[in-house]
Amino acid sequence: MRKITRRVFLGASAAVGAVALAELTGVKDSFAQRRGAGVVNLYSSRHYNTDKRLYTDFERQTGIRVNLIEGKGDELLERIKSEGKNSPADILMTVNAAILWQAQQDGLFIPVNSRILRERIPPYLRDPANHWFGFSKRARVIMYNKSKVSPSELSTYEDLASPKWKGRLVMRSSTNIYNQSLVANMIVRIGKERTERWVRGLVANFARPPEGNDSAQIEAVAAGIADLTIANTYYLVRYANDPRKREVYDRVGVFFPDQRGAGVHINISGGGVLRHAPNKENAIRFLEYLVSPSAQDYFARGNNEYPVVKGVKLEPVLAQWGTFKEDTTGVAKQGPNLAEAIRIMDRAGWK
Ligand SMILES: [Fe+2]
Repeated sequence: MRKITRRVFLGASAAVGAVALAELTGVKDSFAQRRGAGVVNLYSSRHYNTDKRLYTDFERQTGIRVNLIEGKGDELLERIKSEGKNSPADILMTVNAAILWQAQQDGLFIPVNSRILRERIPPYLRDPANHWFGFSKRARVIMYNKSKVSPSELSTYEDLASPKWKGRLVMRSSTNIYNQSLVANMIVRIGKERTERWVRGLVANFARPPEGNDSAQIEAVAAGIADLTIANTYYLVRYANDPRKREVYDRVGVFFPDQRGAGVHINISGGGVLRHAPNKENAIRFLEYLVSPSAQDYFARGNNEYPVVKGVKLEPVLAQWGTFKEDTTGVAKQGPNLAEAIRIMDRAGWK
């Protein structure tokens, strides 16, 4: 009896969803009507055009409608917390493992026991207890001015603290989660004390106080303000693929550090199913869909990131750079070391 009633309800609400859904974004009020229906409510800090194709493709395959609410990661987190039990959100999709870890600490996610997700996503790119999963990889690498630095001079992240790079390094602010995660990852790799020495060495080599995002660092390297930086690869791909900015790309080389050691620092775009999700089964289906080859292609390509599933074709510029050894220590270890990383950066005077 209960089942039948539920099914009737599902059918009626699915129709409501179908009408309004083409507009996708900004439709907040009608969430309540669609609760429990053939929908999945996705809170995402991603805003890439290819993601739209992803949602259409999923809808076509499953009949489950995707409602999208976009916002910055921290805003979405706050919103989910303040909505509490009444939150219509099924999935939180955001960037950075440490943020996902924090959301997990706040009790926002439920574990998802999915063989598909476990089999397709390597263990180092997800929470060991299955609260969240990485769906694309971001590689934070060394970038250098080709006329000033030879790749033969480069080796490891730690080497960037060497006095030979004095006044030659630009870095984004320590308030940025990418650098915080990198330092947290270094704590995992080499311990607190060595990490602190490393960070102090980096700061001593800064060509200027930190300003701007990863793109600003790359442009500073291209312009000769500094010789080196550490940045996420997808920022440089944007310069490669924009004819008006190609000049920047032509001046900057990519170096994958630590190839004889722990490998390149990796982070993720990822997400999980929320504790109060009204459509948990649909949410799990959506996450499982994200590791299908076509979805992996859309998802990773949306921001020129690396797919997490093996065998998916890379964006051409990434493919041209070739394969490299990745740090497989586990992105889940970064969150627990984040607070210590921030303290180290503060003590070292990394603005
Ligand atoms: Fe970014």
